[in-house]
Amino acid sequence: MEITDGFELVDHATYGREGPPHALWARLRAESPVHPCRPQGYEPFWAITRHADVSDISKRPDDFLNAPGIVLMNEHQQKLRASGDGVAAMRTIIEMDPPEHRSYRKVASPWFSPRAVGRVDEEVQTSAREIVNQLAGSTGEGECDFATDVATAHPLRILSAILGLPREAEPKILRLTNELFAAEDPDLQRAGEDRQKAAKELGLEMFQLFSEIIEDRRANPQDDLATVLANGKIDGQPMGPMETVGYYLITFTAGHDTTKNALAGGMHALLQHPDELAKLKRNPELVKPAIEEIVRWTAPVNYMKRTAACEAEIRGQRIQKGDNLVLFYASANRDEEVFEDPFSFRVDRKPNPHLGFGIGEHFCLGANLARKSQIALWQELAPRLEALEPAGDPEYISSSFVVGLKKLPIRYRITPAR
Ligand code: HEM
Repeated sequence: MEITDGFELVDHATYGREGPPHALWARLRAESPVHPCRPQGYEPFWAITRHADVSDISKRPDDFLNAPGIVLMNEHQQKLRASGDGVAAMRTIIEMDPPEHRSYRKVASPWFSPRAVGRVDEEVQTSAREIVNQLAGSTGEGECDFATDVATAHPLRILSAILGLPREAEPKILRLTNELFAAEDPDLQRAGEDRQKAAKELGLEMFQLFSEIIEDRRANPQDDLATVLANGKIDGQPMGPMETVGYYLITFTAGHDTTKNALAGGMHALLQHPDELAKLKRNPELVKPAIEEIVRWTAPVNYMKRTAACEAEIRGQRIQKGDNLVLFYASANRDEEVFEDPFSFRVDRKPNPHLGFGIGEHFCLGANLARKSQIALWQELAPRLEALEPAGDPEYISSSFVVGLKKLPIRYRITPAR
């Protein structure tokens, strides 16, 4: 019997119930690392599960394309894309190929360099301190849903600051991102029976929100990313409206749920590994390797899809032009050939060549900011965390693309602010 038709690897509801399919990936890595999949209701694809293959394919952007789409689509998503409506109409760098991709990436990449993101150090640290102080309150004791109260709030504040969103717009952009990413999660998706109409309205709302900021930054330039994007040029010409709005959209959406899921997944991992939490509290310098381990462990971006531009052979399998290849980062991050004892969570793991931020042409543009945001939060929280326990069962988001927890109830005692 075949190992899998791939359904469990990509079906949103299965992730919502069970989380990522690590046991199945381990079997595929061992027995069929380039596995043909034909899941019902989704496009057919090859499941790529080994670290070496995910790396190689990512480093061949002329042979394996992003422009045809980076998400494996179900029937509803296929219809939406074909209609070109709503968010599907916006053009983002993650769906571009070279040479166009390089020209567009260059618009924002200087802003994301390690030195340049230093400009937001203060905002990032203030956000971490305010959120942890709020949790502690005056007594230090409390309960919260860590996924919402901490993991959602922290990146939301940072991204709003760099993209020029006023505080009062935060709930709106948060709702729109949830609707976009968790379009298949009944708790988070946009209301309305007609999924296509809902998606179209969502695109319009996003467009309006960002258009206002773009106009403002063109008239009143400031020293922020919002201004860089509003005034971005390609070969000396201003970027088109779909590309400019697309840039805000990709920055916000790629930056928010991913960081949120890394923070919530990190807390979940530390709850399940109290010895590792104790180690982190004793040694604050371990925060840096700890967040790398958290990104390896949680792989908030579960996969990216590529489309073959030509015939190719990978581990003896013949790939045809037009075939979909799904690069499972979560699986590559537990590859026995690369990581010692990959199923153990170690805050001091070294080396840690995880692929949680991808690799090659499309390597995460926001990786420096994502690291900084997580480091600030754990540096503030870990040393002040006096007691921690679960206060209920965690719940997974029904999504197989950007994956993680939507609820993580905890009970804690945190040293109050002095
Ligand atoms: C823990 C948090 C994050 C994770 C795990 C993550 C992961 C990823 C991954 C896996 C990719 C695709 C890489 C590839 O195809 O090789 C990516 C691309 C990208 N990420 Fe992140 N990301 C995170 C945070 C952020 C943040 C904070 C931002 C911006 C504020 C951001 C912006 C982007 C952009 C713009 C791309 C597209 C890059 C391109 O196509 O050239 N990400 N990210």
